[in-house]
Amino acid sequence: MKISVIGCGYLGAVHAASMAELGHEVIGIDVDQAKVASLSSGVAPFHEPGFDDLLVKNSQRLSFTTDMSHAVNASVHFIAVGTPQSSDGSADMTYVNQAIDALIPHLSPGDLVVGKSTVPVGTAQRLSAQVAPSGATLMWNPEFLREGFAVEDTLSPDRLVYGLPEGDTADSAQEILDEVYATILATGTPRLIMNFATAELVKVAANSFLATKISFINAMAEISEVTGANVTQLADAIGHDNRIGRRFLNAGIGFGGGCLPKDIRGFVARADELGVGSSLDFLKNIDEINLRRRGRVLDVATDELGELAGKRIAVWGLAFKPDSDDIRDSPALDIVESLARAGAQVVAADPQASIPAAKRIDAAGLSGQVSVSDDYLGAAAGVDAIVVATEWKAFQEVDPKAMASVVANKLVIDGRNCLDADAWKAAGFTYRGMGRS
Ligand code: UDX
Repeated sequence: MKISVIGCGYLGAVHAASMAELGHEVIGIDVDQAKVASLSSGVAPFHEPGFDDLLVKNSQRLSFTTDMSHAVNASVHFIAVGTPQSSDGSADMTYVNQAIDALIPHLSPGDLVVGKSTVPVGTAQRLSAQVAPSGATLMWNPEFLREGFAVEDTLSPDRLVYGLPEGDTADSAQEILDEVYATILATGTPRLIMNFATAELVKVAANSFLATKISFINAMAEISEVTGANVTQLADAIGHDNRIGRRFLNAGIGFGGGCLPKDIRGFVARADELGVGSSLDFLKNIDEINLRRRGRVLDVATDELGELAGKRIAVWGLAFKPDSDDIRDSPALDIVESLARAGAQVVAADPQASIPAAKRIDAAGLSGQVSVSDDYLGAAAGVDAIVVATEWKAFQEVDPKAMASVVANKLVIDGRNCLDADAWKAAGFTYRGMGRS
């Protein structure tokens, strides 16, 4: 099939390459010339395991352009542009609206427009009416990919969600999307059919639930800290209950990234608009707990070291999660900035995110106090504390005995509860976790 993917950021670029992998002929369209140039030359503009290989392997069936008129050759058009957070917390729909406006002149009767972006409930209904005069049909097919697993999540999703329009175009829309995803459906992937509003809500509800799970366990970490309990053991014990499950119960410095924080705020803003704000009041609390946990590292460092001014602190991790170079709303980067603002000299390191992080540190006017590199072992030389802020596997594999001889003071603050506490203690370190000691 001939497919266009509008928006070649994280979601769109991976989706475009994955659709080519399924055997379709795909054109990726983006307004960003540099991104298009990079993708055209087979180089991923972001770090994502397996994505470069997919780009190169499918280069015969996959091309990228800034010219929207190329969409005319395709009959299925995926909308995968970003919906960033506006200053009032709501989702900024500028890119979605621009993409639809630019696409409509190139649509033909019978075409299918498939929304993938995370949008406020009610958007699909509005866009459907806008697209209808062209003779094309719109449906909503939210995406649940995780950074670091984006290729896997796109090609082997847990489920496919189809939000269908009312009326007689629904059946043909469903058949076309079934053809697009035929290979995935053939493996038995569940396909759930619903109306627009439900499909839009599935995405924000899923992210809200995940955020709630994380803030729940972080609230338990706060209780553990004042009672001497161990939140990891607590999570293991409640996680054995199948109704609860162990995943997304890792306490630490909380969630960040381009999705969970903005999606819960956008959902709250939309519920307010709809007059049902009180239904989502709890999500404001989820957000507050999450942001509060970022401050915990500073509290623990002050508790152990006293005045932070002049102290030298290594921060391992800058990306919002491992296997990613994404620093959007990264708790790790927030911690680097707050340690620096408290007067510490910060030596920050991340295997993938050092370049974007250095730019952010520079823009924040903190480059005098923060050095950034990918050399996490070197960063520990002569420091008063090591802070682990992103749970990269490489950090977990560091030999604490080797670190004991290079640091000036043996203090490790494990912001992600990912280290072997006993091994670090055995090497002479004071170990401070989040909700566990
Ligand atoms: C998320 C959703 O998982 C995905 O389905 C959706 O499509 C986009 O948003 P992503 O942003 O890639 O994906 O990150 P995710 O793996 O969900 O982690 C989000 C944040 O939560 C990270 O900062 C991570 O470190 C943190 N986290 C996760 C915890 O603090 N504890 C946990 O137990 C799990």
